[in-house]
Amino acid sequence: MSIHYNNQRKIFTLTTRSTTYQMRISDLGHLIHLYYGRKIEGTMEYLCVPRDCGFSPNPYQLRVERSWSMDLLPQEYSGSNTGDFRLSSLNLITDNGIRGVDLYYVRHEIRTGKYAIPAMPAAFDRDGEAETLSVTLKDPVTGLEAELLYGVYEQQDVITRAVHLTNTGTCTIHLEKVASLCLDIPFGKWDMLHFVGRHTMERQMERIPLMNGIQTVASRRGTSSHQHNPFVILCDKSATEDSGDCYGIMLVYSGNHRTDVEVDQSGSVRVVSGIHDEQFSWKLESGESFDTPEVLLTFTHQGFTPLSQNYHRFLKKNICRSKYTYARRPVLINNWEATYFDFDSDKILQIARQAKELGVEMLVLDDGWFGKRNDDNSGLGDWFVNKSKLPDGLEPLIAQINDMGLKFGLWVEPEMVNEDSELYRTHPDWAMMVPGREPAISRNQLVLDLSREDVVDWLYETLSGLLHRYHIEYIKWDMNRSISDVYSRILPPDQQGEVAHRYVLGLYRLLDRLTTEFPDVLFEGCSGGGGRFDAAMLAYSPQIWCSDNTDAIERLSIQYGTSFGYPIASMGSHVSACPNHQTGRNVPLGTRAVVAMAGTFGYEMDLNKLKDEEKQQVRQQIKQFHEYYDLIQNGDYYRLDCGEENHYFTAWQFVAPDQSEALVSIVVTHPRLNLNSICLRLKGLDPEACYVVDRQEFFGCDVPRDRIPMGDSGKTKQSYSGTVLMYGGYVLPQMFGDYPSVQIYLKKEL
Ligand code: DGJ
Repeated sequence: MSIHYNNQRKIFTLTTRSTTYQMRISDLGHLIHLYYGRKIEGTMEYLCVPRDCGFSPNPYQLRVERSWSMDLLPQEYSGSNTGDFRLSSLNLITDNGIRGVDLYYVRHEIRTGKYAIPAMPAAFDRDGEAETLSVTLKDPVTGLEAELLYGVYEQQDVITRAVHLTNTGTCTIHLEKVASLCLDIPFGKWDMLHFVGRHTMERQMERIPLMNGIQTVASRRGTSSHQHNPFVILCDKSATEDSGDCYGIMLVYSGNHRTDVEVDQSGSVRVVSGIHDEQFSWKLESGESFDTPEVLLTFTHQGFTPLSQNYHRFLKKNICRSKYTYARRPVLINNWEATYFDFDSDKILQIARQAKELGVEMLVLDDGWFGKRNDDNSGLGDWFVNKSKLPDGLEPLIAQINDMGLKFGLWVEPEMVNEDSELYRTHPDWAMMVPGREPAISRNQLVLDLSREDVVDWLYETLSGLLHRYHIEYIKWDMNRSISDVYSRILPPDQQGEVAHRYVLGLYRLLDRLTTEFPDVLFEGCSGGGGRFDAAMLAYSPQIWCSDNTDAIERLSIQYGTSFGYPIASMGSHVSACPNHQTGRNVPLGTRAVVAMAGTFGYEMDLNKLKDEEKQQVRQQIKQFHEYYDLIQNGDYYRLDCGEENHYFTAWQFVAPDQSEALVSIVVTHPRLNLNSICLRLKGLDPEACYVVDRQEFFGCDVPRDRIPMGDSGKTKQSYSGTVLMYGGYVLPQMFGDYPSVQIYLKKEL
């Protein structure tokens, strides 16, 4: 049993392989947080030290007993307007003007299996590992019940949290803030890692010391956003990849989100995470319920690497629903950067033919195949074939591509509409805009109101129609703007605060229906690259286009940051042409492939334009990727070093779960003169075993064989013990040139 209730002391203990989470019902009935951290035996009431503090009020029931204050106590789910002046988890106003909420224990239940969240993706229980704790609290004044849900995945060191609210009172309640999680960490000094960015530069890892007051990671763009990913890590000041206490807090949500981290007057930390409360409200009539999205928590005392690996395994095993999560996915070619909008079927077939010849397995037809879509100003919403480009339609094109032995994939952007489209001319009211105000335009497109059932139903009919009619084996689901002018024509004024969340629920309903009806179609998420790269979207699409920036050198820090929370197998990554279309940079073809191999791997260029020797390289890259496939997609991932920090090179490593093989990749971003050699301490190998360097290949530079310190004796394959490679390190020769790289494949000796 991973959940235990001590009736005498009123303590709940949640236990995973290496962590303990504890809370207690106080004498007054509040749910007090006691501990979350490294696994312990025993109870932790002593951590909750009663003390008196000026201007921190005391509950009325205690009168002169001043050492008990809601303003100082760690809590499981903070209320509001009751004398706790730190971050609230829940805020409301009733029809009769009552603001705030004070929650008291009512009942609890422990059950096997994992709770589900209606209408939203949440972790599921793949192999009967999970248990659920439900603790119901109630505010006696408003009658609002908050059922706090805890899912415990013992073997995976993950605890999930969500809240189910029910109005059991008689008044209408207007929820103004409903967090998914409140986590108090009373002691310690912490840094925060968060993942910030912009279009074409997503998820740059930033580590900052927590300051007194509140720091916020949030999006009000209607999506999880390029700017602030809904994921933070709190770590102790000395934490590294391999050591230190770290808490991971990941929201399973794709819309407006907010994670606040407060350091209070006494130095304690409170984290509150959930749907963004700005411009949010939800009307709850008597008897109605509301569900929050879920948060995935993990803790490790061994640094960022095991924290990331916990998330990588968990997202794949318990969030991604697609049958392709563990299955082999095809190496694809996408025509976007090869043609943009300028293509016809001959051009596409030419690209496909060459790609097939070099080993590619699927062609993806990107933007521009539909409506009057000849640039990005028109056509969105008209999901029928663009006859000026494809006069014979999609059928013969797909048939010819299939006849070549390639699968066929298609791009769509269902959530959008251009004013210049048949859809908009027929249903102008389906586009979101505030009455009387001209809407903000982005890429000259408007957002369809997915909070409306009729819009979602139409999209379902249209997209399922495409999938039934054509032999489509992959869908790239794009979304190319932030959402503004949030307003729905069919909701009454006092429910307009619900639109942004209802939009997300509509999107989930649509994706749920389509992915359930078409389980054999591989979905790839996309939002101008990685603008909606979150755990919830991974439930439907096991891979997400990581960034519109395909420059391999820029991708290093994008993929590095992404890897803190998300599996390698989820990162869409392609080799593109040089000079790169976003940065104008030239990077050796070999290095571009090394970087794209830290992802789902594919090409985004016209391979016909390559020289013969480059084509041969591509052939070899694809062959190599197939050989490394399991290691990359299902192996354990280690960040070895990061160019953003050392201003020299970035290195990473994959290790097979049984430690039988490993792949090390190094990209030199700034060749340095007269510096010490790069000495990489490898990770995750079997210290008892020896590893032979089976293959070591340099790209973008010539290194004389007699200068290669390890791995290439020129005669036999070199072998080293796991301890030598991990504690001594693997030494590389000096590499000069523009962005050289090395790939080293190690095999355990039997
Ligand atoms: C943004 C995507 O990220 C690109 O890959 C491409 O599909 C374009 N949209 C097409 O408009």
